[in-house]
Amino acid sequence: MIRRNSAGSTSVIRAAAPMPATLARMSRRPNASSAWATAAAHDAASVTSQWIPSDGSAMSARTTEAPSAARRSATAAPIPLAAPDTRATLPSNRVMGSASSLGETYPFGSPPVLWPAMGALEGKVAVVTGAAMGIGRASALLFAREGADVVVADIDEDGGRETVSLVEAAGGRAAFVRTDVSVQSDVEAMVGFAVDRFGGLDCAHNNAGIAAPMAALADYPDEGWHRTLDVMLNGVYYCMKAEIPAMLDRGAGAIVNTASGVGLVAYRHQAAYTASKHGVIGLTKVAALDYGARGIRVNAICPGTARTPMVDEAMRRQPSIEERLSALHPIGRIAEATEIAEAAVWLCTPAASFVLGVALPVDGGYVVP
Ligand SMILES: NC(=O)c1ccc[n+]([C@@H]2O[C@H](COP(=O)([O-])OP(=O)(O)OC[C@H]3O[C@@H](n4cnc5c(N)ncnc54)[C@H](O)[C@@H]3O)[C@@H](O)[C@H]2O)c1
Repeated sequence: MIRRNSAGSTSVIRAAAPMPATLARMSRRPNASSAWATAAAHDAASVTSQWIPSDGSAMSARTTEAPSAARRSATAAPIPLAAPDTRATLPSNRVMGSASSLGETYPFGSPPVLWPAMGALEGKVAVVTGAAMGIGRASALLFAREGADVVVADIDEDGGRETVSLVEAAGGRAAFVRTDVSVQSDVEAMVGFAVDRFGGLDCAHNNAGIAAPMAALADYPDEGWHRTLDVMLNGVYYCMKAEIPAMLDRGAGAIVNTASGVGLVAYRHQAAYTASKHGVIGLTKVAALDYGARGIRVNAICPGTARTPMVDEAMRRQPSIEERLSALHPIGRIAEATEIAEAAVWLCTPAASFVLGVALPVDGGYVVP
C-alpha cells in the first residue's frame, strides 16, 4: 500500500501477511491489519524521528526544552534514505514486500513492518507516557492494535490528541490526559484518569523522555542535569509508584520502562542521560523483585538509535549524522520507532509471561561490541 502524506511524500506499507487460521480467530477485528497499517503509515509519514547516542555536536542543552508543534511538523520533511531493505534481518514471516518489488523509494528509510493484530491485550487498559510522538506514539498504536484501551499521556496536548485520533481512525479506543511525568500529582491524576475512563489499569509503558545536554562532566550544566533526572528517572519512579497499586487492584499487570542502550553502557559527555537511564534499569529491577510474585511483571527496553522527532532534529541540523549513527549499530542502520515499540508491547503481553526484570536491548546490536 502506498500512502501520500500532506507534505506530498510517499511511504510504502507492506501488506499484512496472511495469518494462520488459529491466529486469525484470535483477532476480533476484521481487517484490523489494514486499519493499523493505515494508522502507522500516517505516523511514519508525519512524525517518526529519533533519539541518540551520538556525539556532542549533534545535541545541545536547548533540546531539553519541551517539544513544540513546530518541531513535530518539521519532521514531516523527508529525511535522507539510509536504511537498507530489512528482508535479510527480519524473520521470513514478517517479510511482506520490499521497496524494490514495489518499485518505490522509502522516504523514511525502512518502512514500518506490521504484525497482524493478535488481540493479545483485548479488554486490557494501557497507559503510555510520551505518547504524543516518536516511540510513545508507535507504542500507543500497537497497544491499541492488540485490543487495549489506551491512555495517551504527554505534556504535548496537540500531539497527544493527534495520537488519539490515529488510534480511533484505526478502530481503537484511546483518550488523552495532559501529564508532566516530572510532577507527581500529574502522574497520580494520569492513573486516576485511566481508572475512571476505562475501569482500571493493566499495562504501562513509561517512556517520556527528553534529549539531555552534552558536556564533559566537570562542565555539565546543573540545570540540565536536574531536568533530565526529573523527567527520565523521577518520572519513571512516580509512574511506577502510581501504577502499581492500580495494577494490584486488578490482581496483575505489566510495566515496561524505556531505558536506552546508554542505560547499559556509557556515552561520553552524556552524564545526565547515561545516569538517568542506568537508574531506570535499577528501578526496573527493584520493582520486578518487589512485585513479580504479586503478579506484576516489570521490565525495561534499551533502544538503540531510533528515528523519532528527537533524532530527526539532530539529523536535519547535521545530515551526515545518520551515517555515523548507523555505523554504531552492527545491524547497519538505525531503527524505526515501531520496531522499538513492538518490543515494549510484546513485554506486556501474555507471550512474555515469564520475562521479569530484564533490560532488553532493542538496538540492532549497539551494545554487543
Ligand atoms: N529515539 C531514540 O533513538 C532513543 C534511543 C534510546 C532511548 N530513547 C528513549 O525513548 C523514549 C522516547 O524517545 P523518542 O525518541 O520517542 O522521543 P520524542 O522526543 O520523539 O518523544 C518524547 C515524548 O516525550 C514527551 N515528553 C517530554 N517531556 C515530558 C514530560 N515531562 N512529561 C510527559 N511527556 C514528556 C514529549 O512531549 C514527546 O512526546 C525516551 O525515554 C528516550 O530517552 C530513545
